[in-house]
Amino acid sequence: MDGPSGSGKSSVSRGVARALGLRYLDTGAMYRAMTWWMLRQGVDLADPAAVAARCGEPRIESGTDPDAPTIHVDGVDVAGPIREAAVTAAVSAVAAVPEVRVRLVALQREIAGTGDIVLEGRDIGTVVCPDATVKVYLTASAEARARRRSAEVAGSTVAAQQEAMARRDALDSTRKTDPLSMAAGAVELDTTALSLDEVIAEVLRLVAERR
Ligand code: C5P
Repeated sequence: MDGPSGSGKSSVSRGVARALGLRYLDTGAMYRAMTWWMLRQGVDLADPAAVAARCGEPRIESGTDPDAPTIHVDGVDVAGPIREAAVTAAVSAVAAVPEVRVRLVALQREIAGTGDIVLEGRDIGTVVCPDATVKVYLTASAEARARRRSAEVAGSTVAAQQEAMARRDALDSTRKTDPLSMAAGAVELDTTALSLDEVIAEVLRLVAERR
């Protein structure tokens, strides 16, 4: 499951995994965890070489239960801190560093290799699991995505969210390594006018068709 921020990837992926009794992996949480660690270490995130030099150090562990996904860095539960504004603002720069991607993609493939799973991210269909049974590219209008995100983040306005998301999506789509793009063979689903249950039902239909 790939798509820009606020397209509904997490809710849809978790719902699909739950319905099918599968594991679930939020790859964005891994990039966020790496970013949280870099910020804590005081690494200069404007310096890709500095990020590359340190990205092998943190131990990042993801729990794959769709009812209670977890993320730990060196044994510390970072599920809360990785959603903070400072991490959100910095994550695209860290995720653009090729060495970071090589390391996290390897971890993601290791987890995906041990059985059926729903992965969500930006490069799942193109890079992490190009042979996935079902590839979905979720989209929604910029306004709908900003509305959803601002409902999740206390004290934020739709306009501010829309601006921040546009900045992050532009960085994610134009970076040199593994940019956000629709994979060959992916089905594009525009969720703007659909309820969460409708999107989940559509993905389950695709899975039933192809499995
Ligand atoms: O999905 P989420 O918005 O939490 O992802 C945070 C950031 O992590 C994205 O903006 C993107 O920069 C990066 N990311 C990525 N590749 C993925 C998942 C996330 O580059 N597969």
